[in-house]
Amino acid sequence: MKTLPERIILIGFMGSGKSSVGRILADRLGYELVDTDALLEERAGAPIAEIFRAQGEPAFRALESEVLRAVADRRRSVIATGGGAPAHPPNRDFFTRGDAIFHLRVSLETARERAGEKADRPLLAQDPEAVRRLYQGRQPVYEELGQSVDTDGRTPAAVAAEIMRLLRSPRRNLLPEESG
Ligand code: S3P
Repeated sequence: MKTLPERIILIGFMGSGKSSVGRILADRLGYELVDTDALLEERAGAPIAEIFRAQGEPAFRALESEVLRAVADRRRSVIATGGGAPAHPPNRDFFTRGDAIFHLRVSLETARERAGEKADRPLLAQDPEAVRRLYQGRQPVYEELGQSVDTDGRTPAAVAAEIMRLLRSPRRNLLPEESG
């Protein structure tokens, strides 16, 4: 196997499965799972929905950036990030440092279905048109920053297995257009 990266970062829209896939990957690799949403809630002592309600999104984003800075140098870690983190410009450095970044690609329909199982995402509770705009605005950012892996119709274990294959691939560091 190629030398493994110290950090494997998972990005993607809400409901893409970052935490579930991250858990499996971390177990397989013997890495620590760092879930930035969970860390943020722990530090703030409040659930994310409550932070949005009481302090608003800008306060949430500031906390999220602090958490990313705090975990940026963790070693042997799989870092599952919140869906909005890559689209927030102050976090740019975190996502462009050359760590292995995988974008868990999910259709908006599947994201809605999966998120329906978990009712604590304030940004998905907006009207459907606003959610669609958010989704469409973020896709190019995710595609640019990470290597995309499809998740629709696949279990977290299948997605994790594909990432393991990509990590072992000798072409891991090549851009897709250079690999053909
Ligand atoms: C958000 C995604 C959530 C959480 C917060 C904001 C977003 O994380 O950070 O509700 O802006 O997309 P998940 O992607 O883990 O649901």
